[in-house]
Amino acid sequence: MGTLGTSTSTGQAQNELKENTIIIVFGASGDLAKKKTFPALFGLYKQGLLPRGVHIVGYARTKMNDHEFKKRQVSYVKGTDDPAVKSPLDEFKEISSYISGPYDEDSGFQALEEHLLSIETKYASGPHNRLFYFALPPSVFIPVAEGVKKHNYSKNGINRLIIEKPFGKDLESSRELLSAIGKQWAEEETFRIDHYLGKEVVKNILLFRFSNGAFSPSWNNRAISNVQIMFKEPFGTEGRGGYFDEFGILRDILQNHLTQVLTILAMEPPASFGAKDIRDEKVKVLQAISPIAPEDTLLGQYVAAKGKPGYLDDDTVPKGSKCPTFAATTLYIKNERWEGVPFILIAGKALDEAKVEVRIQFKDVTEGAFKDIPRNELVFRIQPSEAVYLKINAKVPGLHTRALPTNMDLTYKRQFPESKIPDAYEALILDALRGDSSNFVRDDELDGAWKIFTPILHWIDGKNGDPIKYEYGSTGPEEFGDYIAARGYRPS
Ligand code: NDP
Ligand code: BG6
Repeated sequence: MGTLGTSTSTGQAQNELKENTIIIVFGASGDLAKKKTFPALFGLYKQGLLPRGVHIVGYARTKMNDHEFKKRQVSYVKGTDDPAVKSPLDEFKEISSYISGPYDEDSGFQALEEHLLSIETKYASGPHNRLFYFALPPSVFIPVAEGVKKHNYSKNGINRLIIEKPFGKDLESSRELLSAIGKQWAEEETFRIDHYLGKEVVKNILLFRFSNGAFSPSWNNRAISNVQIMFKEPFGTEGRGGYFDEFGILRDILQNHLTQVLTILAMEPPASFGAKDIRDEKVKVLQAISPIAPEDTLLGQYVAAKGKPGYLDDDTVPKGSKCPTFAATTLYIKNERWEGVPFILIAGKALDEAKVEVRIQFKDVTEGAFKDIPRNELVFRIQPSEAVYLKINAKVPGLHTRALPTNMDLTYKRQFPESKIPDAYEALILDALRGDSSNFVRDDELDGAWKIFTPILHWIDGKNGDPIKYEYGSTGPEEFGDYIAARGYRPS
């Protein structure tokens, strides 16, 4: 991330890939590639942010000709009738191509290599850089990482590997994966994506915390009562039940996305905004958290309501599954700053709304002058409608003294009407091209997060803790209100 100026970009080039680069997307026939990776690559291309002379190569087992591939590749690009989109889109298709092959046989990687070399002969001089993007199921991460290293690793340039989650299912499997991939690829070459780290408001937390002296004295257990980090989705697993049932909501959302947000909220000031210093501080937070206890965890599973199917009605879900689609759990950070402050992580599918937010609730003011006055709350609304606002009490104008809760509000659309909020994948792919790994997950962060979650995950995998039923479209299990109240949250 580099240094933070008042108006400058935070990106600091470290071996930036500026030219002669091929981006190879494995799993190019898949859902993620279609919905996120290719639209993000096109978004960067359109803004002139991809390296000069870049080529995009898709690779997967599915047989497709170039025409079918390109149609699929751009199917999620918006505004294609607009000439400002159409012209760069035609160019983008021109620089894209597709190779079909297996993930576990030399022949596929050899055919890919021939194709890559044929592209590189067009580069006049300079290095031949390659950025490999694994939009693949984790079951093939290892053979593909090995195949690429053996056959497709550029000997004359920089190689980088972007890997999607889930990275393991528990501490042991994550370590196996780390070790197998680590034998082929150096940590500096490996960029593990957690796309929440590319979201604008998540990136703002770091800047907000360390550039506003007004908040520093109150960012601790003396002033803060509790912190909630909440993810709500208004749809169920529909069609993705096979994948989801193997992982559950804790592995899908809490262990990665919400825990990453927690570390940024709780870390000590880093010595610099370089990748190493930021991630060193995040790891210290993880090391100060004890494994999650079952009694601190509330699990739920949605059932049919309002004409929508329940989790178990999804054909791709095993009959009678106890997989949680909702979880609330509480993490305690055992250090001087945070001792005693509950960090409540909450995530649920098929809830009443789409919302991801952080809610930092401050302690009560001393009674005396005021009784039952609402608490201050600082809210980072990550999505939708990005915002940061502080709930404060103010005097109602008039001849009486009466306090009313009100908001100091930084809603991005109002405050920055001209600024486009970048897509998280655009931001992260650009970081990887720049060699800036501050927003990617380092091996020891992953290890730290799995240590916290593995015991509760094994407990759930052992068919313990029947999830409480909640209706599709509701706010989650009825017990949730009591759960957060018991951990100090007071509605304001
Ligand atoms: P898909 O299931 O669509 O798989 C991607 C491609 O991999 C498929 O098109 C298929 O290509 C190949 N593939 C699928 N299953 C297997 C298998 N069992 N063995 C070998 N190859 C297989 O996955 P997604 O695109 O949804 O996700 C890719 C990665 O990104 C995963 O790790 C996922 O967890 C992660 N992710 C996905 C998100 C999403 O919104 N989809 C969001 C965040 C992360 P072919 O058969 O043509 O080779
Ligand atoms: C993914 C999860 O990591 O994040 C999905 O696997 C979830 O289940 C998605 O829907 C949410 O991402 P976003 O960016 O839409 O909040």
